[in-house]
Amino acid sequence: STSVEKTLLSVLRTIPDYPKPGVQFRDITTLLGDASAFRRAVDELVHPYAGQKIDKVAGIEARGFILGGAMAHQLSAGFVPIRKKGKLPYDTVRVAYSLEYGIDEMEMHRDAVTPGQRVMLVDDLIATGGTAEAAVKLLRQMGADIVAACFVIDLPDLGGRKKLEALDVPVRTLISFE
Ligand code: PRP
Ligand code: HPA
Repeated sequence: STSVEKTLLSVLRTIPDYPKPGVQFRDITTLLGDASAFRRAVDELVHPYAGQKIDKVAGIEARGFILGGAMAHQLSAGFVPIRKKGKLPYDTVRVAYSLEYGIDEMEMHRDAVTPGQRVMLVDDLIATGGTAEAAVKLLRQMGADIVAACFVIDLPDLGGRKKLEALDVPVRTLISFE
């Protein structure tokens, strides 16, 4: 494995049977709490885009906010929160997306991006891709140009990366787990 994969393997924690039996939960709090690993992960996510004009980093609630704030600072970009419904105070666009059981809705402020703005999407992990796909729909509805979607962790067996690539969204991830 590469040096960044080695670093990540040493700081990511796996919790068996959380939040329910059979799930191996990939916990990034131990990565976030490690100063040099947190910096390294953010640097690795943004480095292909250094020198490009990125107007906004859009972070998905909740862990995408933590990574996205740091990435926006690094890229000299603004930050846009994409949230579970009912949390944003101004006019929003809303989209339904499916979870393992049932559906939920995500929202973004209508004025958070303007047509043609170059946006980078971020979250901690991509599994089925349902959450990220919903975020792509919101951003494109407001005319954003999605430069890439970035995740620390990919669970490729669940198909999320392929789902985004089929929507012509370039995907960057740092480590994969079965
Ligand atoms: C997790 C993760 C992603 C999403 C990935 O969030 O942080 O947002 O699930 O799953 P998907 O690719 O199958 O859509 P979660 O739903 O646990 O929400 P939280 O961050 O608010 O706890
Ligand atoms: N960690 C965090 N979020 C998740 C996971 C996980 O392992 N699986 C699906 N969403």
